[in-house]
Amino acid sequence: MSTRLKIAIQKSGRLQNDSLQILKECGISIDNGKDQLKAQARNFPLEVLYLRNSDIPQYVQDGVADIAIVGENVVIEKQKEVEILQKLGFSKCRLKMAIPKDEAYTGLDYFNGKRIATSYPNSLQAFLDANNLDSEIHVISGSVEIAPNIGLSDAICDIVSSGSTLFKNGLKEVEEILSSEACLVKNVNISEGKNALLSDLLFRMRAVLAAKN
Ligand code: PRP
Ligand code: MG
Repeated sequence: MSTRLKIAIQKSGRLQNDSLQILKECGISIDNGKDQLKAQARNFPLEVLYLRNSDIPQYVQDGVADIAIVGENVVIEKQKEVEILQKLGFSKCRLKMAIPKDEAYTGLDYFNGKRIATSYPNSLQAFLDANNLDSEIHVISGSVEIAPNIGLSDAICDIVSSGSTLFKNGLKEVEEILSSEACLVKNVNISEGKNALLSDLLFRMRAVLAAKN
């Protein structure tokens, strides 16, 4: 059987359209049965796997997918062994600490002894450790910004893009933990045959990105 590269992209969510778009700009056309979780490229030995964002680093580490387009924030949070090959310039966002807008922010000490809601416990713990802070982390998987309003936490640590979700929930950002954008990642030991295909794809992607700047 001829070698094919398997790429994971978001099943649903903010990265999916731009991920498919960049493949298209690389000259790769994908048969998209909307509800299928797997698709083939017509003119490149590429198979597309539509997976949940938060599962993607694990799948790439395990070699279920050879490569993926995923947010750096997810790669950092999941702490899996994958190699970041190329930043892709879209889905830019930041991981921020935010508190109710009427609270006076007194600096990092503010978080000592506070309850913080987040979907990014590893990134948050690293930030707390680096700053010698002792807080209580509450992990929730979405709609994190509601937590202070329902008495679940004093602060949050979550992704900010436009800032509108923070604003609508009466929160203000006070510290930045990291900034992120979509990136292409690879499994650390893919075969030589797949590596050759990957070089071709990466060459095309870099040309597409260069043309945009
Ligand atoms: C993401 C993120 C923030 C929001 C940031 O949530 O968790 O809540 O987007 O975007 P903004 O600054 O442009 O408002 P998402 O809408 O993906 O939903 P979820 O957190 O419930 O998964
Ligand atoms: Mg959210």
